[in-house]
Amino acid sequence: GMFQYIETSIEDNIGFIFLNRPKQLNALNRTMVAEIVSAVDAFDRDTEVKVILLSGHGKAFSAGADIDEMSNDNPVSLELLNQFADWDRLSLVKKPIIGAVKSFVFGGGFELALSCDLLIAAHDTQFSFPEVTLGVMPGAGGTQRLTKLVGKTKALEWILTSERINAQTALNYGIINKIVAPELLMEEAIDFAKKIAVQPPLAVRMIKDSVNKAVDYSLYEGMQYERKNFYILFASEDQKEGMKAFVEKRKPNFTGR
Ligand code: HXC
Repeated sequence: GMFQYIETSIEDNIGFIFLNRPKQLNALNRTMVAEIVSAVDAFDRDTEVKVILLSGHGKAFSAGADIDEMSNDNPVSLELLNQFADWDRLSLVKKPIIGAVKSFVFGGGFELALSCDLLIAAHDTQFSFPEVTLGVMPGAGGTQRLTKLVGKTKALEWILTSERINAQTALNYGIINKIVAPELLMEEAIDFAKKIAVQPPLAVRMIKDSVNKAVDYSLYEGMQYERKNFYILFASEDQKEGMKAFVEKRKPNFTGR
């Protein structure tokens, strides 16, 4: 393919991205992150793709940022590199991203998982922020996203100690949507993706957009934002088709317009 560290494909309206450095437990080097973002961007603009599914080849989802690559950085090189602009682009994607994770989901790998909209995890998944043990801290949203998700108490405990969180704990805290048997991870993730892929795509993206605003906005601002998105959907052909089909007691035929 056109990528060195990931593998992509499209099937059944699902855009697949597999991290593909299995010998390094899918440690994320910068080229790899740029490739992920570029693949996600391409899928976001491809009308054949309704949902994006992100997983990893080999044993683990990802053991985090590539430590060898990071080890000689300094503040000036990091500022000039501006690597986090790539990560920021992930949050601008309109289509839902489902992460299918297993084994190690560490550091930048955990941050990548937290950048997904929905997460399915194998029983054997372990989430952790080990950055503190390296003398640093999460830098791609970990301290912010995890805290907004689980609250300050547990976020601080986990990030300060690097403690590994198992799949059941992650489910209890609302970090993941579902736990599945490791051998069924892709099958279950595809089933999950298909449930979204059959929905009218404009409604799907407006829902994702509105729910994400609840994280950043006040309730009042969020309500206004939701309302505008609700109104916009009434300009779509799929709204007309969806409601007409209900009245005519038949299945809707959505076009994505
Ligand atoms: C570079 C890594 C790596 C990483 C694993 N490898 N994680 N290389 N960066 N993050 C490499 C190992 O060096 C080894 O290469 C091979 O992958 C297999 O790993 P092992 O350690 O032999 O496997 P195992 O004994 O099963 O231990 C798994 C592990 C451990 C517990 C996940 O690899 C580990 O602790 N990795 C580092 C985890 C970490 O600290 N991540 C956070 C990084 S900081 P060789 O060549 O020896 O076979 C971060 C900051 C993000 O993510 C900031 C924003 C971008």
